Amino acid sequence: KEHIAEVEAFTAKTKEEVESFRIKYLGNKGLLKEFFAEFKNVANDQKKEFGQTINTLKSKAEEKVITLKESFEGKEEIQGVYGDLSRPGEPIPLGSRHPISLTKNKIIEIFSRIGFNVSEGPEIEDDWHNFTALNLPEYHPARDMQDTFFIQTNPDILLRTHTSSVQVRYMENNKPPIRTISPGRVYRNEAISARSHCFFHQVEGLYVDKGVSFADLKQTLQYFTTEMFGKSKIRLRPSYFPFTEPSAEVDVYWGLETETDYKMTKGTGWLEIMGCGMVDPNVLENCGIDSEEYSGFAFGMGIDRIALLLHQIPDIRMLSENDIRFLDQFKSSL
Ligand code: PHE
Repeated sequence: KEHIAEVEAFTAKTKEEVESFRIKYLGNKGLLKEFFAEFKNVANDQKKEFGQTINTLKSKAEEKVITLKESFEGKEEIQGVYGDLSRPGEPIPLGSRHPISLTKNKIIEIFSRIGFNVSEGPEIEDDWHNFTALNLPEYHPARDMQDTFFIQTNPDILLRTHTSSVQVRYMENNKPPIRTISPGRVYRNEAISARSHCFFHQVEGLYVDKGVSFADLKQTLQYFTTEMFGKSKIRLRPSYFPFTEPSAEVDVYWGLETETDYKMTKGTGWLEIMGCGMVDPNVLENCGIDSEEYSGFAFGMGIDRIALLLHQIPDIRMLSENDIRFLDQFKSSL
């Protein structure tokens, strides 16, 4: 009877413990063998009770062995496949954002704070949206400014050379007031080097409303450069773009504090970061906006160059090589 209690209470941590339990009770030299051998020596009036007791003990021991073995068999199978399930987990390695995305997101965030939304358009464009609507009619010499990859000619289908094409689409489909920025990939047939690639990324901005002036443009750029670079000294140099009049190039004063500053700014301290201007009335009219009633400004900048600048990346090609050792370095950036 004590043994029955022992059998009922028995638990095992390993298969081996179950096995020695089995040998102890049910083995060839086990306790039950002994008890059954003892049976013939038991007094007749006790035989019944003794017999019942050892039979109960036997079936309880057998049952115990079976249930314990089963519980271990399951686990062993799982452990074989997954290893020790009680071990602490290994963390899943975290990815990182691409420096282009980091820079793009920062630009979007800065402009969204002053009411600009984000618009996107196709990378494969027609002639109208990439050139003609932007005041670059056929045979206009300024088309040479942008070496174009043509997919098809007549009618011309091409890889967009700038995201100004998105602004045309936006003006065609939305009424002023318009405040939008268009980030995206653009393509130009240029020799690939450390400084330039045949594809890169731009953010262009457009603001059209009643009474928009050059002063608004300048103040917006001032705000942007301060937020983006922490540098508030800018200058606008007169320039030319077919779609803006007047047009300007924006330089940020980067300073001449370090050797890199000297290299980046060719010793002047000034760094060119974007083109801008007042939207040419012809462009507004091409997009169905009354140029007597409305005026606007536009600007455009290259994301890649800014990413190189902010992260001190020496070669633009590193941005598209997908080298994990390079990409992993942006883990700590948001
Ligand atoms: N679209 C011009 C470019 O790709 C940039 C630009 C945009 C200039 C808007 C002026 C106004 O170089």
